[in-house]
Amino acid sequence: MDNFTFHNPVKILFGAGQIAHIGREIPAGARVLFAFGGGSIKANGVHAQVTAALTGAGLAFAEFGGIEPNPRYETLMTAVELARAERLDFVLAVGGGSVADGCKFIAAAIPFAGEPWDLVARGEAVKTAVPLGVVLTLPATGSEMNAYAVISRAATGEKLGFGSPKLMPKFSVLDPDTTASLPPRQVGNGIVDAFVHVLEQYLTVPAAAPMQDRMAEAVLATLIEVAPGAMAGDRDARAALMWAATMALNGLLAVGVPQDWTTHMLGHEITALTGIDHARTLACVWPGVVAVQRQGKRAKLLQFAARVWGLAEGDEEARIDAAIARTRGFFAAVGVPSGRGGYDLPDSLAGQVAARLEARGGLPLGEGGAIDAATVRRIVLAAV
Ligand code: NZQ
Ligand code: ZN
Repeated sequence: MDNFTFHNPVKILFGAGQIAHIGREIPAGARVLFAFGGGSIKANGVHAQVTAALTGAGLAFAEFGGIEPNPRYETLMTAVELARAERLDFVLAVGGGSVADGCKFIAAAIPFAGEPWDLVARGEAVKTAVPLGVVLTLPATGSEMNAYAVISRAATGEKLGFGSPKLMPKFSVLDPDTTASLPPRQVGNGIVDAFVHVLEQYLTVPAAAPMQDRMAEAVLATLIEVAPGAMAGDRDARAALMWAATMALNGLLAVGVPQDWTTHMLGHEITALTGIDHARTLACVWPGVVAVQRQGKRAKLLQFAARVWGLAEGDEEARIDAAIARTRGFFAAVGVPSGRGGYDLPDSLAGQVAARLEARGGLPLGEGGAIDAATVRRIVLAAV
């Protein structure tokens, strides 16, 4: 296990009725930017709950709606202008990962003197940020308890990640009841996204980190166990899913171990090129990632087969094949096809994805830094 320093200061308010308590978590006298997405929170009553909590606490606030899935720089800059004009000094994100991510960008951009896109595209340091809180309505990304955000720019067709400890939310509300209105497509997307987050911190070369392995396996097993109930709208299953998705990407599983974010990096390019939902791009690419890296990941694939899927007997190659098939079957069962075939994407995508990553210096990838442009092409071609 590698050395690490771990510090996650995000305060979690979990459970029914917790939105009512956000007023205690926001400094008295703060002027709040209440930011949300395309309107789901108005239809499901979350907007009314947040409004009541802010009003009840005597907090001044201005609303900004319309943050889209795969949040866009262009939209977010409109919110930044509003916040600067109204001297807003606290950002409250109410929605899914896109709203949380978008608000991290807004929080960093408000006090930034230069061109805020440089924070994303050039890795300019986030020296200061407006404090942020989150009311999560979609279990999936883990953004509610991490330092990262993924921002798209319509004008250039880019989708890029950035992050800073300064962007970790001061608090996040995880009320499973807010998820009751989710369409099945978004629940399935969230389950697959969280599952792949764990795989990318787990399916690497072995690292003598048994605690992280067992924690990762616990999250994977929980996702498998609660997925049917969560898809059917069962409240307890939704609650377990919400916590599992947060645990999947709050930094805890990643400490001390190698990571391989290849599936995500290729997935972001595919969303940028095609507009396909984030989780679906992961399911599209993942079979290629394990096919091409099967040797390097062999020990962990066998462990994954045994401990997560109960496949501990018989020929090792057959066990690995079966674990991959079971994983793809799990994605299918929550409505998410896997492989390029599920999305009708042509072979020519392979060269496009590789060229885009190479052009911006996004390579090599993989836990050993061995995935170059040619390997990216092979992965996309192998993702059938
Ligand atoms: O915009 P509204 O009207 O709110 O509708 C949203 C949106 O259309 C809807 N929705 C959310 N909560 C709902 C609801 N509909 C009904 N009831 C509710 N309770 O769901 C749709 C999708 O929302 P979105 O926020 O885009 O989904 P998700 O949470 O999956 O976020 C995806 C974004 O997060 C990024 C992805 O790249 C993508 O841009 N990621 C962020 C990460 C991070 N910050 O650590 C890591 C992830 O790997 C990921 O890359
Ligand atoms: Zn993801």
